[in-house]
Amino acid sequence: MAKEIKTIGVLTSGGDAPGMNAAIRAVVRSAINKGLKVKGIQKGYNGLINDEIIDMDKTSVSDIIQRGGTVLYTARCLEFMTPEGQHRGAEVCKKHGIDGIVVIGGDGSFRGAQKLAEAGVNTIGLPGTIDLDIACTDYTIGFDTAVNTAMEAIDKIRDTSTSHERCSIIEVMGRNAGYIALWCGVANGAEDILLPERYNNDEQELINHIIEGRKRGKKHHLIINAEGIGHSTGMARRIEAATGIETRATILGYMQRGGSPTCKDRMYASIMGSYAVDLLAEGKSNRLVAFKDGKFVDYDIDEALAMTKDIDEYEFNMSKRLSM
Ligand code: ADP
Ligand code: F6P
Repeated sequence: MAKEIKTIGVLTSGGDAPGMNAAIRAVVRSAINKGLKVKGIQKGYNGLINDEIIDMDKTSVSDIIQRGGTVLYTARCLEFMTPEGQHRGAEVCKKHGIDGIVVIGGDGSFRGAQKLAEAGVNTIGLPGTIDLDIACTDYTIGFDTAVNTAMEAIDKIRDTSTSHERCSIIEVMGRNAGYIALWCGVANGAEDILLPERYNNDEQELINHIIEGRKRGKKHHLIINAEGIGHSTGMARRIEAATGIETRATILGYMQRGGSPTCKDRMYASIMGSYAVDLLAEGKSNRLVAFKDGKFVDYDIDEALAMTKDIDEYEFNMSKRLSM
């Protein structure tokens, strides 16, 4: 028989992402609606181990849906990667009567959730990362806001690049994944898009492309470089030396992680938060909420973590054709 859940905990873990607050709000309010108690676990698995746990009611999530970051704070916690740390986490859950947890984070956080499930705490994961690098889902909380923030910043860089007839390398986040770079590259009309999944390290090809563009009268040359390739400053120096065209590197950095979430991130995060509570109330554990092929669905975390994902070939080829 499925375990009856009376009290649930919610935590955010790994890098923060805009929309995490909307997910927290949805978890808290959906749970209260079902007559469950809710505890907020602060600073991810760190706060779990250190017993940094607060009671949450419907007003503790008032006025947060529009805010970036996470009101529960987030952290990375090495200790939770050890059996002792995981045991301590499960003990703290027992102490607070927490029989179910919603973990909002990325792949690493879900590995932690797996361990909690093994220790007898029902766990549900929500994909919260700007990187869009979780294989089982076409949507992750925060990606939409991050690409819109980066896109607006890159439009501004384009203005100054054109005025000075410069080449600009703009480095966007994404860890080892190129989704932010691909989306911004297309949306900003970049001349080159460098993705970790596809880049062949042929800088001469890049240089030739810049020179050809200049010969055809292009006033600027925008290169969107993914964090997973990096080295934007050195690349700019080498391009300037080889082409004679003034070249600047801009690393957008954490501005992509902050800021007020878009409508899509608020709405999808709300649906996912509510879905997670439905799963817990049904006695489910070790599941991950995802958005796949136009629908909200859930997967076993073990299966989800074994899946792989790559840049869509059609989108990649299209990005090449459009940036000619
Ligand atoms: P993300 O969740 O964004 O992928 P991390 O990879 O940094 O971020 O993972 C976040 C946290 O999840 C880690 O600091 C750690 O506490 C926990 N975690 C990661 N991997 C494991 C693991 N194999 N076992 C237990 N906990 C893990
Ligand atoms: O996962 C989100 C992300 O911003 C990645 O794009 C980036 O590689 C990483 O987190 C940076 O992490 P930190 O917060 O440790 O600088």
